[in-house]
Amino acid sequence: MLSPFLVVPVALATQLSLVGAATTLALSPVSGRSGAYMQGAPDAGRTRVTHMKERAARVAGYAEGSTTIPATNLAYVQYTANIGVGSPPTYYNIVVDTGSSNTFVGTGNPYVKTSTSVPTGQEVNVTYGSGFFSGYEYLDQVTIAPGLVIVNQSIGDALEYADFEGVDGIIGVGPTDLTLGTLYPAVDAAIPTVMDNALKQGLIPTEILGSITYTPVTTTYPSNYYWGINVTSATYGETTVIPASYAGIVDTGTTLIYIADDWYQTYQDSIPGAYYDGNNTGLIVIPFEAIPFMQPFTFYVSGMAQLLPLWQNEAWGAEPNLQYGYIGPIGSLSGEGLDFIIGQKFMERFYAVFDTPNSRVGFAYT
Ligand SMILES: *[C@@H]1O[C@H](CO)[C@@H](O)[C@H](O)[C@H]1NC(C)=O
Ligand SMILES: *[C@@H]1O[C@H](CO)[C@@H](O)[C@H](O)[C@H]1NC(C)=O
Ligand SMILES: *[C@@H]1O[C@H](CO)[C@@H](O)[C@H](O)[C@H]1NC(C)=O
Repeated sequence: MLSPFLVVPVALATQLSLVGAATTLALSPVSGRSGAYMQGAPDAGRTRVTHMKERAARVAGYAEGSTTIPATNLAYVQYTANIGVGSPPTYYNIVVDTGSSNTFVGTGNPYVKTSTSVPTGQEVNVTYGSGFFSGYEYLDQVTIAPGLVIVNQSIGDALEYADFEGVDGIIGVGPTDLTLGTLYPAVDAAIPTVMDNALKQGLIPTEILGSITYTPVTTTYPSNYYWGINVTSATYGETTVIPASYAGIVDTGTTLIYIADDWYQTYQDSIPGAYYDGNNTGLIVIPFEAIPFMQPFTFYVSGMAQLLPLWQNEAWGAEPNLQYGYIGPIGSLSGEGLDFIIGQKFMERFYAVFDTPNSRVGFAYT
């Protein structure tokens, strides 16, 4: 049923299909940064996982307490989209996050109200793994792409916020339940996401084009609170890294690829001389001598390249003359129901199709 993709070593444009294959949103890499701006990203990715497990427990009613949502570690965000709000639209540079579900603007350029902006009388307050925003909730129209205009979209006007450097907000395309508890006084109300509204307003094209391999959304907790899927196995060359069917998530808000610590150890042990640079970058270091002998890493559903380009070393705060890799330990052993995260480094090579009406995730070559 599931077929592996081959490793394609060329990074191409990333696109995220919002609803059906025919509606794609171009995501642009953030440019113009310099210095070690990615240093800390691997550890931040692991922190996000912890928050994601906690957030699912809270929404599922298994845990009490904080409403921290595991959204994007914004300091390390690499991909944003240009989204219009209002009429005429004001365009904002917004993070597209499949791991959270509130949509808001105002953390960079302020929210410009137009005749389509209707206050709801609700306060909104969301705390993320790093950062927060609070303000008032509006209904407004949102232009995702020419010809894809969603009306009556609930959207936050961020008046107070922290840690949203360089971006104007988030478009949250995760499951709707993750918005529970973010409004006041309507604490029990879920906020329809842009995907819910696009569906309701008939904006979703039903035709599927191209050869996309689909896999159903998983039912395994806590991955089922996100865009979770099961992989049936994973291999590094001839070595089995993931031995059976396990659940994890596909996440645009995570930069790297993380696998459970026991699986990571198997992977690292298969690369002679490789070690984990936990003291500095949080990345795997791969000896140059080992590179010619590296094997494909294959997730069955998928596959990917594993090496960080040397020119990116500075950004990750890494030694200039070492080779680092993308695949790292998640920070816990396998068996927790959310045992891997397929982050942006995978989606640079594939389209990921988040198909809400059919509860499935699709992959295709870019
Ligand atoms: C707009 O959305 C709100 C809640 O998000 C809903 O109560 C209202 O009925 C919607 N109005 C229209 C015209 O769709
Ligand atoms: C998905 O993985 C979980 C373990 O994470 C397992 O318990 C479950 O049976 C798997 N589901 C399928 C359909 O293989
Ligand atoms: C990390 O730091 C500890 C304590 O200073 C040291 O024992 C260990 O060898 C270091 N690890 C690496 C990979 O540099």
